[in-house]
Amino acid sequence: MIGRLNHVAIAVPDLDAAVRMYRDTLGASVGAAQDEPAHGVTVVFITLPNTKVELLHPLGENSPIAGFLEKNPSGGIHHICYEVDDILAARDRLKSQGARVLGEPKIGAHGKPVLFLHPKDFTGTLIELEQA
Ligand code: CO
Repeated sequence: MIGRLNHVAIAVPDLDAAVRMYRDTLGASVGAAQDEPAHGVTVVFITLPNTKVELLHPLGENSPIAGFLEKNPSGGIHHICYEVDDILAARDRLKSQGARVLGEPKIGAHGKPVLFLHPKDFTGTLIELEQA
């Protein structure tokens, strides 16, 4: 069911420092910061030849990644995103397999429907599915 790895998302406490590290030290193609108020994050996309990395930084009072950064003060991998052809078919299949699907599909940072899956059902990793 899952297809390509769309991105790996890394929560960072200092967005400017992370941008400099990826751009200057690692020599990656780093985009401009985008505020995503609906998701409570500022996102920077890093485009690699075969996938993307997303740097996530809290935006606003109730950012969903604030707690993660409290537990991981120097940052860390927050989730990985796999592509699926049909987000609703994926949701129904996962629910029928007993997996915990977090909420309903909503429009993600790339303007496409996304869904999150409970890390306890997926080897301790928060998984995002994005309709390709
Ligand atoms: Co993501």
